[in-house]
This record gives sequence, structure tokens and C-alpha cells, in this order.
Amino acid sequence: MEYKEMHNWSPASWRDKPIVQQPTYPDAQALAEVERTLHKYPPLVFAGEIRSLRDDLASVSRGEAFLLQGGDCAESFIEFNAGKIKSTFQLLLQMAVVLTFAGSCPVVKIGRIAGQFAKPRSADTEAVDGVELPSYRGDIINDIEFTASARTPDPQRLLSAYHQSSATQNLLRAFASGGLADLNQVHRWNMGFVSQSPQHEKYETLATQIEQSLAFMRACGIHSSNTPQLKETSVYTSHEALLLNYEQALTRQDSLTGGWYDCSAHMLWIGDRTRQPDHAHVEFLRGVHNPIGIKVGPSTGTDDLRRLLEILNPGNTAGRITLIARMGAEKILDKLPPLVRAVEEMGAQVVWSSDPMHGNTIKAGNGYKTRNVEAILREMKGFFEVHQAEGSYAGGVHFEMTGSDVTECIGGAYQITEEGLSARYQTQCDPRLNADQSLELAFLIADTLKVARRQR
Ligand code: PEP
Ligand code: CO
Repeated sequence: MEYKEMHNWSPASWRDKPIVQQPTYPDAQALAEVERTLHKYPPLVFAGEIRSLRDDLASVSRGEAFLLQGGDCAESFIEFNAGKIKSTFQLLLQMAVVLTFAGSCPVVKIGRIAGQFAKPRSADTEAVDGVELPSYRGDIINDIEFTASARTPDPQRLLSAYHQSSATQNLLRAFASGGLADLNQVHRWNMGFVSQSPQHEKYETLATQIEQSLAFMRACGIHSSNTPQLKETSVYTSHEALLLNYEQALTRQDSLTGGWYDCSAHMLWIGDRTRQPDHAHVEFLRGVHNPIGIKVGPSTGTDDLRRLLEILNPGNTAGRITLIARMGAEKILDKLPPLVRAVEEMGAQVVWSSDPMHGNTIKAGNGYKTRNVEAILREMKGFFEVHQAEGSYAGGVHFEMTGSDVTECIGGAYQITEEGLSARYQTQCDPRLNADQSLELAFLIADTLKVARRQR
């Protein structure tokens, strides 16, 4: 066994614990039937890949690499097409190349993709014009349309989510090893609408420098036919492990090590609303050997965090835990330092990552849920500052973003205004950075990263 033997744990032991943020299915038998079907289906990812990600994250925890995690707030059944998957993949690659080249740092890439369907909500029900219905909880559970039948949780949706995740994963694997990730194509990754923005020029300059470096390396005998890293990459998958019926059904025992792995994704995270140490989500995740993310919010106390680390990583294995801070721009400087110190005092091996999205959601005057790029940037800067002051490593970022030309977050080079939000506001849940805004942040992080790494 890789970790200490898990006592009193089984893939189903979460069922005996309190649980929040769950749908109420009208037909328990239909749900159980779907779970049995899913349990027979092939895994979406394999234990060996999950261990590779753990090793990659271990190198991040030692300060030798940087983590880039990003994708939709929620994937949807309607927006499921090859173009969308490709643009998310390309955006991750573009951002990674900016960080690798401009920040001189290897980048571990993880998508919020191929399973990111279930959403925690602030209320169980939603009322419109005096009609009260269950809240929309993500396409794996119910439909966003405001009718009683659409909002009723339907277990068949677990199967649709599985099939969509499987097709998405298939395309990601093809893109990663089938030529799209070839560094010789770096100019071609530049996306259509970014071509008008200041990021375009910066990116083109960087792409030209990479091309020149590749030409030099070719002259020295290093090229993609003898160095596969130049034409292939790994993009791992992740999602919030919220709907445990789905997660349990895809949990398998590895024949090599005997350990349990949740084979629905490489990495799983626990949301800010489901991280109670004695509840079901922590119980489930303590027994699977995947890398685990823990969202750390302004209400996370140092004792809570210590307890979570003891439960979820008793062997202090590097690469097992990523702490994803999502404090909000106004709170990061106050709330993060005590937590960083608690981790240092414990000698806990973790990756610290910044989610500058979820603490900065605001309501625009016209009712749109949005985020300001300026606040996102301020939280990220605060995150780097705190780690620099504490002597710890700011190891990664976690974004809600899309390769599409959406207008969901205010600001950025195109200066999206509150009035401009309605033009292409397409998210099923939280507002995402578009490709241009994401790339702008990647350049800014690269600058910070270069300085921070030089000082270490
Ligand atoms: C999310 O990442 O989509 C999310 C809901 O985050 P949090 O749990 O941090 O609010
Ligand atoms: Co979100």
C-alpha cells in the first residue's frame, strides 16, 4: 500500500455521515440502478496516470514547477462540442507556454473539464414570481430551465455526464499527443478574437522567440522526433467531488497496488461548502489515492485546516494535497498568513494555489453576476505577496475561464463594462474569464513568477 491502511473506510462509508449540498431524487431505486450501471462502465482515467499527476504536484510542492488549473465553472450538456473543448485546451496550452517560457518554469496543466458538472448552491430553492422550485445544481443533476419538470433531479443525467466526460477525455488525449500540442505550432494556437488585443502582439513575440529557440535546438540535434516532450504534453482532468453517488460508482481498486482510486478524474477537490471534517465529502476523499484539492476560504480556521490535513493526508505524502485559497481581494492579506504559518508549523507538504475567482463575485447594477479583472489580479498579487513574506512557495493558480469570446467578467484589455456584459453572457453558473483576459493574467503571473523564483 502507498498510504497507511485506511481504517473503517470503504467507497460507501460516506453514506453513514452527514452530507450537505445534495439533490433529493424522487426515485431512489432509479438512482441505485444508474449507480449499478455506472459501476460496470470503464474508468475514465487510470491509476498510473493519477500517480503521475501526484508526482508532478509533488514537484510543485518543492517549488520546482507551477500549477495551472482552469476551465468552466460548470460544463453543460448544451455547450458540448469539439470546438469548445479544443479552444479550452488551446487556451490552457497558450497560458502554460507563457508561464513556462516567460516564467522559466515547468507547468503542470489541469483542466476543470471532463466531469465538472455538479454545483453547490447558496439556497436549496429558487423563487421567481411567487413560484418556488429546486435550485439548478448542474447538468449532472437537473436542468437550468425554470419549470418543475426541468428542475426535478433525474438520475439518468449521471449517465449522460459520464458519456460526455468520456468523449471529452478522448479528445483531450488526442489533442495532447496527436500534434496539436506540438511546440512548432505555437503560432497557430493564437485564437481568433485575441488577434485584435494587446495580448496578441505579446504572444506573437513570445511565439517567435520559442520558434527561434526550437530552430537552435534542431541545429543541435534536439527535435520532436527524438524528444517527444516537444510535441506531446499531459493535460490532466479535475472536478469538484460533490455528487458522491457518481464518484463512488467510478471508484476502483488498482490491481497493482491494491489502493482505491476515484477514476472519474485525475484530481478531485472539496468545495468551500462541503469541507466539514466529520461529513461525507471528507470521508469519501480520505480513502481514495487521487491528488485532492481543498478550497480554503475566509471562514477556514487554522484548527479546521490542521484537522483536514491530518485526515486527508496522514502520511504527509507530497503531491496529495493542493490548498486552493479563495479569500477575495479584500481579505487575502489578513486571512491567508495564519493558514500558511499553520501549514509551515505542521511541516505539511502541500501545493498552495490561488483561486482569485470565487471570493470576488459581485452583482452588477443590471443584475448580472460578474467579477472584475482588477479584483482578480489584486487577489493574485496578494497571494504572491503573502507567500513571499512567509517564505513559502506560491505554487499555482485556479481559474474559471473559457477559450470562447464571452463577456462575463468586467475589465481586461477590451475593457468590458457592466453594460457590455449582456453581449455574450453565456455561463451556466459563475462568470468566466475569456481567452484574452486569461492570457493577460498569464503574462502578469509570468512576470511575478520570474521574480519570485529568482528570490528563492
Ligand atoms: C467552484 O470552484 O466552482 C466553487 C464552487 O468554488 P468554492 O467551493 O470555492 O466556492
Ligand atoms: Co464557480
